[in-house]
Order: sequence, then structure tokens, then C-alpha cells
Amino acid sequence: MKTVLITGASSGIGRELAKVYARNGFNLVLVGRRENRLDELKKEILEDINSGILINGLVLDLARSESIQRLVDFLEEKGIQVDVLVNNAGVGIFGKFSDLSNEEFEKNLKLIDVNVKALVELTWIFLRKMKERNEGGILNVASVASFQPGGPLMATYYASKSFVLTFTEGIREEMRGSNVRISTLCPGPTMTEFEKMEEISGIFNKMKTMSAKKVAEIAYRDFSRGKSIIIPGKLNKIAVFFGKFIPRNLALKIVKKIQEKK
Ligand SMILES: NC(=O)c1ccc[n+]([C@@H]2O[C@H](COP(=O)([O-])OP(=O)(O)OC[C@H]3O[C@@H](n4cnc5c(N)ncnc54)[C@H](OP(=O)(O)O)[C@@H]3O)[C@@H](O)[C@H]2O)c1
Repeated sequence: MKTVLITGASSGIGRELAKVYARNGFNLVLVGRRENRLDELKKEILEDINSGILINGLVLDLARSESIQRLVDFLEEKGIQVDVLVNNAGVGIFGKFSDLSNEEFEKNLKLIDVNVKALVELTWIFLRKMKERNEGGILNVASVASFQPGGPLMATYYASKSFVLTFTEGIREEMRGSNVRISTLCPGPTMTEFEKMEEISGIFNKMKTMSAKKVAEIAYRDFSRGKSIIIPGKLNKIAVFFGKFIPRNLALKIVKKIQEKK
């Protein structure tokens, strides 16, 4: 039986990905900060899917540097080999960068720790093991925001998601010819706790959103097929495609207008 490690499994897309992987017979290692949410999910999967899989929930704050080592120690203690890594945990923060208070600025640094640093560290740790075995897969969660030249009023978030896309495409090319699958998931607006958590509201409700379940199902299917960049939903695909023809300065103005409406 194969094992998938999913970060940010306590809600939203990560939670739905856990269910999809469980339905496909994977053992699960689920990471998040909210223990009760991980326990609830574990119970739900065991009751509803009940396919004899093993589920381990691990309460970790990925913004803390010691968390990665705790995760590695936990897997070693339990003798768990990670076959698929899903770097899904992520946060978004709204606000004009020059107006951030000290506290808000600290939050932005934590965003980089979670969205970028932890993702890179986990990729490095597990990719080397997968390379040795010449088997495995890594799915990194970016966003349609990754394709924008910048994200006024959410500058660190957009930059972090551009990083995820560029980084993942880079290592995918490095691993070409191997049996290790590497993909980037770029969801568009998706109904999750994302907006509640970091004061993002308004526009997400007005725009066409997808369900986290649908996003997870498409992600699982396209990742299994070895697709490089997975953009769930026709509208999102179209927006990304035509976005390439918009001059960068105009795209920045459009993103700013969208963010200002929040
Ligand atoms: N929703 C959208 O519209 C959308 C669009 C594009 C991309 N995305 C990306 O999709 C991914 C999942 O987001 P979502 O929409 O499903 O939002 P969500 O429901 O808020 O889920 C975010 C997950 O990340 C975890 N997380 C956040 N900070 C963490 C930390 N410091 N340590 C460990 N886990 C942490 C949360 O768990 P705890 O709170 O329990 O720690 C939660 O499980 C993110 O990378 C996001 O950027 C979302």
C-alpha cells in the first residue's frame, strides 16, 4: 500500500485531497495545526470509506523551523515511506505592503515560511529519497495567481505562488526521464476556509468559484496522468491562457482593481 503525505489537510483542498487519496487506497499522513479538524477527518474517512487504510494525523505548525524535523522523526519512528508528497498548506494575507504594522509584517514572513520555505524543505527531503528509489511523486500547490506579474495588495502571497510554480517546473525538468512525477496544481478561486482565515472576502464570493472536492478530484486525476501544470476548471484555463497576451503593466492594474474591490 502506498502512502501520501498531505500538508494542510485539516480543511479545504487538502482535506478533499485526503478523501480522494483514501478512496484510491492510499495510507495517509495528514499535517495541520488544528488537531480536532484532523481527528474529525480521520474519523470521517474511516467511517465513510473504510478501506482498511492507515491514517496518521500530525499536528505541526509549518511556519516553525523545528516542525520539519519533527515530521521526519515521526515518519522514521513509524517506519513510514512517503510515496507521494502533496505540499498544499498555504496562507494568504491582504494589505498594502507599505502600510503593514509590525505584527502584520511578521505574518507576511510566516506566509513565506509556510508557502515557500516549508514546501522547498519538504520537497528536498522527499525528492532525494524518491530519486534513490526512482519512484514517487510530488504535487505542489500554487495558484492561478502564480501566472500574474505581481499581486498588488497581496504582494507576498502572489510572489510566493509564482515561486512555487517556477520552482516546481524547474525540478520537474531536472527529473525528466526518471520515474518521479512532479506537478504543480494551480487552482482558481475555490470555496474553502482560505478567505475566512486571512481576511480575504468579497471578490471571491462574486467570482465563479469551484468546490474544493472538484479541485481535488481533478488534481488527483491529472497528477496521476503526469500533467505538468494542473489548472482545474475551463474558465481558469481560459483566464491563464489569455492572461499571457496581456502586457505586464496592464495585468498589474487589473489585479490591483480586483484586490481593491475587496
Ligand atoms: N481557496 C482558493 O481560492 C485557492 C486558490 C488558489 C490556491 N489556493 C491554495 O490552495 C492551498 C490550500 O488552501 P485552501 O484554499 O484549501 O485553504 P484552507 O481551507 O484555509 O486550507 C489551508 C490549509 O493549510 C494549513 N495551514 C495553514 N498554515 C499552516 C501552518 N502554519 N502549518 C501547517 N498547516 C498550515 C491549514 O491547516 P491549519 O489551519 O489546521 O494549520 C489548512 O489545512 C493553499 O496553498 C492555497 O494558497 C487556494
